[in-house]
Amino acid sequence: MPVSRRRALALMGGGTVLAAGAGAGAFLATRTPHAALAPWVRAGSYGDARLDALSWALLAPNPHNRQPWEAELVGDDVLRLYRDPARNLPQTDPHGRQLTTGMGCFIELMVIAASASGHGVDLTLFPDGQADGRPVAEARFMPGAASPDPLFAHVPARGTIREAYAAHLPDRAAVQSLSAHARVITDADDVADLRQLTWDGWLTEALTPAAHGETVDLMRIGRREIEANPDGLALGGPFYESLALAGLLTRRAQRDPQSRGFQFGISTFERILAATPAYAVIVTQGNDAHTHIDVGRRWMRFDLTATGLGLATHPLLQVTQEYAEMATLRVQAQTLLAGEGETVQFIARLGHGPTRRARSPRWSLETRIRHG
Ligand SMILES: Cc1cc2nc3c(=O)[nH]c(=O)nc-3n(C[C@H](O)[C@H](O)[C@H](O)COP(=O)(O)O)c2cc1C
Repeated sequence: MPVSRRRALALMGGGTVLAAGAGAGAFLATRTPHAALAPWVRAGSYGDARLDALSWALLAPNPHNRQPWEAELVGDDVLRLYRDPARNLPQTDPHGRQLTTGMGCFIELMVIAASASGHGVDLTLFPDGQADGRPVAEARFMPGAASPDPLFAHVPARGTIREAYAAHLPDRAAVQSLSAHARVITDADDVADLRQLTWDGWLTEALTPAAHGETVDLMRIGRREIEANPDGLALGGPFYESLALAGLLTRRAQRDPQSRGFQFGISTFERILAATPAYAVIVTQGNDAHTHIDVGRRWMRFDLTATGLGLATHPLLQVTQEYAEMATLRVQAQTLLAGEGETVQFIARLGHGPTRRARSPRWSLETRIRHG
């Protein structure tokens, strides 16, 4: 999360933080979670087509960074891909729609990475049906059956950018190439409507204790927590470590709407969301698991295309979520964006953001392999 340091200190009680920070400089200088970020460096270094493709795929975007994917190697050339139910998000994603979309991102990135070594992938979705515990996909790797996908080059630079974007729009050529994967909204009135809608959705989730609690439970505060569980919402680096050391960044405060920490999060996000010049939206005819995989595959290509164009993206799916407190806003989203019988699946901010992207943590490939 981006932070105006002075504003944060004013809101959270700056004197204490500064005192803690001054006494703890050497400690804080060592706070990079190297192991949690190692998968970004190790990707593609396994010397095996399937493992290399998986090691790139696990860098895909996915809801709450839950990384629900698991893979089983079968024979010489097949992978079975699963979604781990232990990583479900029962409050914010009760039907697993977003997690399945994340599996689609993973699958698309795996296919793109396989192409880099000339492997085509013959993919069968839900080969044994959709009951719990069954594979999401079976993938047969075929050497020499694909030419490298140019989007592969942009994987190391990708990442969700939760910061204020510049006011100017992406240029016409950029919008055209992105439009192959999602609808790009640049009309000033439509963008204003979406700014209001996505902010209302964000705030509604934040003020719904069960939904917000799911996020708070997944906060990893500081290096030690991030290294122990390299998923969820990582709040690392010297600034957050300072706040945590001073007792100002705690899960308890994050659950309390009256706390300064909570209020700071709200004012920060209000400012960030207001600084959004364009949106990307994916709306579908169907709303089944095959459709959700397809949405993820499209989003993955959008994300990499935007990265290659120097553009920032930030998914904001709150108003698509299926719980009672969100029902009114979900209807508003449908009315604003979808036609008869269609479903709004994906909404994201789009614009020119900061070029330096902080990478988010990942579980290592070794932890994601199932041994049959
Ligand atoms: C289906 C889906 C839904 C997402 N929803 C949100 C969201 O509502 N808010 C948000 O900040 N990020 C959202 N994200 C982005 C993830 O949080 C992000 O991909 C994950 O934390 C990993 O970080 P990275 O994209 O920087 O690698 C979503 C991503 C996916 C694929």
